[in-house]
Amino acid sequence: MTPGARSGGAPSGAFPSRRMRRLRRSAAIRRLVAETGLTPDDLVAPLFVRQGIDEPRPIASLPGVLQHTVVSATLEAERLVSLGVPGVILFGVPEVKDAAGSGASDRDGIVQVALRSVRDALGDDVVLMADLCLDEYTDHGHCGLVRPDGTVDNDATIERYAEVAVVQADAGAQVVAPSGMMDGQVGAIRDALESAGHYGVAILAYAAKYASALYGPFRDAVDVTIAGGGDRKSYQEDPRNVVEALAEVALDVAEGADMVMVKPALAYLDVIAAVSAEVDVPVAAYHVSGEYAMVKAAAERGWVDGPAVALEHLGAIKRAGASFILTYFAAEVAEALGG
Ligand code: PBG
Repeated sequence: MTPGARSGGAPSGAFPSRRMRRLRRSAAIRRLVAETGLTPDDLVAPLFVRQGIDEPRPIASLPGVLQHTVVSATLEAERLVSLGVPGVILFGVPEVKDAAGSGASDRDGIVQVALRSVRDALGDDVVLMADLCLDEYTDHGHCGLVRPDGTVDNDATIERYAEVAVVQADAGAQVVAPSGMMDGQVGAIRDALESAGHYGVAILAYAAKYASALYGPFRDAVDVTIAGGGDRKSYQEDPRNVVEALAEVALDVAEGADMVMVKPALAYLDVIAAVSAEVDVPVAAYHVSGEYAMVKAAAERGWVDGPAVALEHLGAIKRAGASFILTYFAAEVAEALGG
């Protein structure tokens, strides 16, 4: 007997709320009436590419995620595409870091080399994105240029972002994703791309990016430590705010963002819902390293069913209103969804 059949026999009208269960009695009917869904089409995979290594390296705090060589990153992008994942976003780990984050705009910098390699291998079969920031490339670990007094110089930084954007676009990025939370970064990047003739390169703006404690494993993945035990609270958003997120998003759209992002995702589902109700551009959500690592750690201990939690979490992010999700679960979930 199916669970739904047990309700038969009661006088009709006695339990009007029983109608909720009639539409839950089989997997087929649940599928039929599902309000939202998750498919591989909704996913973007972050890929880390490290300069100067011959073999991919594991990242202790991100089980299953690797620091790639250019070759292994390209193969992984091919595998993701074959699983039905439409996009990848590249992050570089340079051998040398300096105060200006020079590696970010070096034409032979690690991300540029990897972008060319993935572009040559996959062309338009993949949406090729590049994270656009300085923190992976600076010796002080901040997302921008730092003044002698230790504060981050907004306007000097966005000039650097503009240079990086053009170099990434030249190397084949179809989407650049500024993640530094500097004021005016989207406008500066849009102007620079247009001046360089890159009219077709889209901007995915990390618009509402919070000063979150959930980025820890990512900083291991890109070998970033913020100098002097510092933090990013002077440029990333305060987790207590949601109205401010709408202001950030409105500014980014006005400056020329093609898509906006909320980050992290699960603790900010209200922000995703508010933003997606407000804007007419696609809204991305970044399910960040700490969110992934917590699921993996609990699953390793046998405390939760990891693959089921992954689907539930990513499904909730879709339900909140995200158009697509950047997630370290991309390959695993695409595989589970039969991609
Ligand atoms: C900055 C950047 C960060 C992440 C993506 N881009 C780190 C930060 O702001 O400290 C975090 C992503 C994650 O935790 O998965 N370039």
